[in-house]
Amino acid sequence: MQVIKYMFQPHGDERGQLVALEEFKDIPFRIKRVYFMYDTAEGVVRGFHAHKQLEQILVCVHGTCKVLLDNGKEKKVVSLEKPYEGLYVANNIWREMYDFSEDSVLLVLASELYDENDYIRDYDKFLEFVGCK
Ligand code: TYD
Repeated sequence: MQVIKYMFQPHGDERGQLVALEEFKDIPFRIKRVYFMYDTAEGVVRGFHAHKQLEQILVCVHGTCKVLLDNGKEKKVVSLEKPYEGLYVANNIWREMYDFSEDSVLLVLASELYDENDYIRDYDKFLEFVGCK
């Protein structure tokens, strides 16, 4: 499984850093939705689902976290530790986010509006969906 991590270009000067993200330029899809997770309690693991269509970019804009990616055949763990790193998560990938630092803010750019019908929340069904069972 190929892990695609984008390194965004910070516009830094003596005032600090600024990262700008534009659809189809820095982000490989039209951004239809943005959400973020913060105040994540210690030891929490989030996600536990895949999407049939949705693509995402995950950016830990503050603090750190880890993301487990699973395509049904192979699993990879990716650390997000910098606000200029964006992890691409394609459709049909099971994801779990964990090891959130206390101060973490995990920003998600998504290619689709929220649609519960696009979720696969059962791991066995995910394996069936991707033809690994
Ligand atoms: P949930 O799917 O449990 O988050 P995760 O799988 O990443 O841990 O979402 C938590 C709640 O937020 C749930 O009630 C659905 C709601 N929600 C929205 O209303 N819109 C959204 O875009 C997302 C991602 C979640």
